[in-house]
Amino acid sequence: MGLLALRRYLPYLRPYVRYMVIFLLAQLGSLAAAASIPKVIQYIIDGPITHHDFGHLVRFAGLLALIAGLEFALILLRRYFSGVASLHMETDLRNDLYAHLQSLQVSFHDNWQSGQLLSRAIADIGTVRRFVSFGLIWFIQIIVTFVVVLVLMAQLDWQLGLVVVLCMIPIAIASHIFQDKYRVIARRLQDLTGDMTTVIEEMATGVRIIKAFGRMPLMQRRFEEQGRTIRETSLQGITARAELWSEINFLPNLSLLAVLLLGGLNVIEGRLTIGGLVAFMSYVFMLTWPMDALGWVLSMSEECKTASERLNEVFDSRPEIADRPQARPLEHSRGRLEFRDVGFRYPNSNDWILRGLNLVVEPHETVGLVGRTGSGKTSLAYLAPRLYDVSEGAVLLDGIDVREITLRSLRSHIGFAFEDPILFSASVHENLVMGRPIVSDEELKRAIEMAQAGFVWDLPWGLETRVGEQGYTLSGGQRQRLALARAVLGSPPVLVLDDPLSSVDVHTESVIEEALSRVLEGVTGLLVVHRPSTLALADRVVLLDEGRVAASGTHAELMRTNALYRALLSQEYEEALA
Ligand SMILES: Nc1ncnc2c1ncn2[C@@H]1O[C@H](COP(=O)(O)OP(=O)(O)OP(=O)(O)O)[C@@H](O)[C@H]1O
Ligand SMILES: [Mg+2]
Repeated sequence: MGLLALRRYLPYLRPYVRYMVIFLLAQLGSLAAAASIPKVIQYIIDGPITHHDFGHLVRFAGLLALIAGLEFALILLRRYFSGVASLHMETDLRNDLYAHLQSLQVSFHDNWQSGQLLSRAIADIGTVRRFVSFGLIWFIQIIVTFVVVLVLMAQLDWQLGLVVVLCMIPIAIASHIFQDKYRVIARRLQDLTGDMTTVIEEMATGVRIIKAFGRMPLMQRRFEEQGRTIRETSLQGITARAELWSEINFLPNLSLLAVLLLGGLNVIEGRLTIGGLVAFMSYVFMLTWPMDALGWVLSMSEECKTASERLNEVFDSRPEIADRPQARPLEHSRGRLEFRDVGFRYPNSNDWILRGLNLVVEPHETVGLVGRTGSGKTSLAYLAPRLYDVSEGAVLLDGIDVREITLRSLRSHIGFAFEDPILFSASVHENLVMGRPIVSDEELKRAIEMAQAGFVWDLPWGLETRVGEQGYTLSGGQRQRLALARAVLGSPPVLVLDDPLSSVDVHTESVIEEALSRVLEGVTGLLVVHRPSTLALADRVVLLDEGRVAASGTHAELMRTNALYRALLSQEYEEALA
């Protein structure tokens, strides 16, 4: 049941235990108030009413009003404190999920749709919160009400109490069947919501492509189809709940009938007072609400259970690329980058992308990486900052396996810019600095100048201009230059640049190249190159083919000796591709 699944998330309530205690006390208090009302009624009937004593009747009525007022106040208190505790829990849980997602390796995201993560972070955590703030209250309320009411009933007339208990047995069976059925439905519904979130997200990010290709009707159809599946699944859930609901509503009426008959007989034979019978009936009525709520609580608890299972799937994925216990920070790096017998395949596939690859980039040397598309250049670049780990062999920085260096230290020694320059919804300044503690204005200016990103000074608010999804829209070339400035900021001894100039015009390219050649002089550079002109930056060129280094030498040498290289970099080849 939901409570068990929640076990893992209950510690989140620990800091708010005082709220929970107040909530529980208020709940017990309100229950005691509610349970005392039938008792008072019994006294009124058997006392003042039977003895025609109006003065006492008014006094008892006043007492009833007082109890009702108290119950109201306690319910208010209970709601408030359970709300406070559950909202705090929700926030903490969400923060932890986000932190956990960030700690996971890149390959985790290769296997997960973003919508599935979004729906877990928003909807599933919300479901857990709702169960804690409502379901849990009701759950406790139902159990305590049953226990208290049954004890009070037994006190009045144990035989009648037994009859009521017997009438409950079918409810337990129906609930059990319902839970099994509803669990499957709830899980499906939550997964479907994740899929739908993905579709909406892809529509938002791919809106240009969708419009340019006139794919709106296709996307609409796909979306509507998903909507239909969600509706059908929800309907199954509603039907299951309705079935349970009607079953558990029928039974209290049945027990009422039995109580009326047997209780009436007891009154006739003098074993029970009329006041006692009325009180007993009031208790049976007191059980009606918990029965009603039972269906909701059971469905909520199943939803909570599946939601926490879905959350567990994320929480249980351990970060595979993390600091090893013996990992040390690297104090000062000379920047000797070595790939030794490297074999690599993506965690989600069996194909070797790189195999038996050996490559050394000496300090202050710049190696240009050339290879056909899909030959694994980007994958090789990923291995240096440990965005992925090698499957065989090792990547070494200054002769130390990168897995023996703390990630923080490793990544502070390597600057990178990738093919697709991602900017965040934040200011240009934040996008460049990316949270690095101290970056002087001088450094910032130098990096911007180096990347020929001077256009930022002309933006409406200069460095404070917001860019990214909700901000000022930059051109592809501008974004690439910002990404380049980000890479060289902080003067890391190793630079890994994946085709950093693919979107800039020929003029800008030559200006950046000039600036870059100055930067690259002092550092170790691994440069993925597509255009022959960028090769001027490289001291040495390496040709990647079939997962290994096929040839290495200067551009001129390779042009002379290697046919594949010639084909890749000759004009004809570029035209053939176009
Ligand atoms: N995340 C991933 N999961 C599984 N396979 C991948 C992943 N990324 C890339 N691949 C595969 O790895 C191979 C090498 O891809 P990679 O991006 O390294 O090539 P590349 O040399 O950079 O190509 P390009 O010149 O087009 O940029 C391709 O066959 C690609 O399908
Ligand atoms: Mg690539």
